[in-house]
Amino acid sequence: MLVKVFGSAVFGVEATTITVEVNIDKGIGYHLVGLPDSAIKESSYRIAAALKNNNYELPGKKITINMAPADLRKEGSAYDLTLAVGILVASYQIKAETLSEYVIMGELSLDGGLQPIKGALSIAIKAKEEGFKGLFLPIQNVKEAAIVEGLDVYGIENVMQIIDFFEGRGTIEPTVIDTEVEFSKTLEFPEFDFSDVKGQESIKRCMEIAAAGGHNIILIGPPGSGKTMLAKRLPSILPPMTMKEALETTKIHSVAGKTKEGGLMAQRPFRSPHHTASSVSLVGGGSYPQPGEISLAHNGVLFLDELPEFKREVLEVMRQPLEDREVTIARAKFTITYPSSFMLVASMNPSPGGYFNDPDAPVTSSPMEMQRYLSKISGPLLDRIDIHIEVTPVPFEKLTETRKAESSVEIRKRVTKAREIQSLRYESFENLHYNAQMSSKQVRQYCELSEASLQMLKTAMERLNLSARAYDRILKVARTIADLEGSENVNSNHIGEAIQYRSLDRDGWLG
Ligand SMILES: Nc1ncnc2c1ncn2[C@@H]1O[C@H](COP(=O)(O)OP(=O)(O)O)[C@@H](O)[C@H]1O
Ligand SMILES: [Mg+2]
Repeated sequence: MLVKVFGSAVFGVEATTITVEVNIDKGIGYHLVGLPDSAIKESSYRIAAALKNNNYELPGKKITINMAPADLRKEGSAYDLTLAVGILVASYQIKAETLSEYVIMGELSLDGGLQPIKGALSIAIKAKEEGFKGLFLPIQNVKEAAIVEGLDVYGIENVMQIIDFFEGRGTIEPTVIDTEVEFSKTLEFPEFDFSDVKGQESIKRCMEIAAAGGHNIILIGPPGSGKTMLAKRLPSILPPMTMKEALETTKIHSVAGKTKEGGLMAQRPFRSPHHTASSVSLVGGGSYPQPGEISLAHNGVLFLDELPEFKREVLEVMRQPLEDREVTIARAKFTITYPSSFMLVASMNPSPGGYFNDPDAPVTSSPMEMQRYLSKISGPLLDRIDIHIEVTPVPFEKLTETRKAESSVEIRKRVTKAREIQSLRYESFENLHYNAQMSSKQVRQYCELSEASLQMLKTAMERLNLSARAYDRILKVARTIADLEGSENVNSNHIGEAIQYRSLDRDGWLG
């Protein structure tokens, strides 16, 4: 008999419904048509074992399977369950009158157990859109898929559960998650809080400004000065995620098979790839394209710890996505786009030895070593970092202080307010939401200076020997400082503070 059963293919972050036709006829053989890859071709062995171990069988007849649309690449082992159910029905081993109302996905183990799949959230969204009644998938994926309301999402552990369901023996219930409740629950307490950081008021101020204007930032300081500790706390002062952002971010993590204990990601992500990371793991790609760290950091923070240790070509490939806020992966036959809008936080030691201009330093570096070290980060990437700040370790007395510092929630209130001012100001622009995104033209328009402020900026730039590229960055940051203050105009105080955040442009660094 000929049977139609539905699966789904994830392409980028979107899913497409796949129609699987299973035909069983006299003869012998197992034929797969419709561009399936080798992992799907191997499915017959897994399906045979899984069925056998549950007292069913892969019939010794001619089995023809057609997967449509044929021009869409279908990869991986996630169709095992789809095919298995199709085969069981087509060979009259089970009855499934409601089969066409469901999308079925899952990888089988030889004992009939199920292995998780990738992209469950995208698959669920598509299934709902196309009017399916429900979705069957491995229990490990049920929480991320159950985010979608109005779709019966069944998480199953074993092939027997889906057989029992269609045969009317089932006791299995769809998983119901109240997404709004989940969403508000996870928002409340950040994992890492700025109140844990003693002292460092000026650095915290800097991070508040960075968060408020969406500015990329680099922290420069010796080992142990608290750079990593500070960076980790940045997500906690960014404005809370909107439901739309949370869904976008969860989708990407779902596609990468990286949702943490399932469910909705309501906290902004913090990704911290090691400096040995490859270009592919950082920006995405591979023979089965997968989102990289920059997409996993979408709507959150990407932390590049020890920036100069990263390979130059790796940093180079980040340039375009940083600009475009999405990354395009091109292959001969298709291209995929993953969103990648994140805040970049980088850290570095002041020199390869860890210290700079410190006569008591345990290790000193020669000017040559210094030059080589700094030259690695100059150029494209550094050009996209608005704020440079030097971090010095807090003195021992401060570290042992018991007084609690201001909490992230308090800081976040000010950041959110400043963001609201910006959203309003840039209302009419599609791709401009916060100050860091301003083009040069927009900087001229929104950071207009009085004659006196302009003169001050000019003098400071000459005296500190600041490069021309610093100019726009200073104005953008000054705009954010003004917004934090609720000031409509950018004045000389704002400029004065912003000038301080250009450490790497000064003499002695990159010059
Ligand atoms: N200002 C601070 N307040 C509290 N603890 C701090 C502070 N600065 C450093 N520490 C402690 O020192 C440790 C090392 O800091 P870390 O962030 O790893 O430094 P870095 O990344 O600059 O090498 C932290 O885990 C933290 O326990
Ligand atoms: Mg560190």
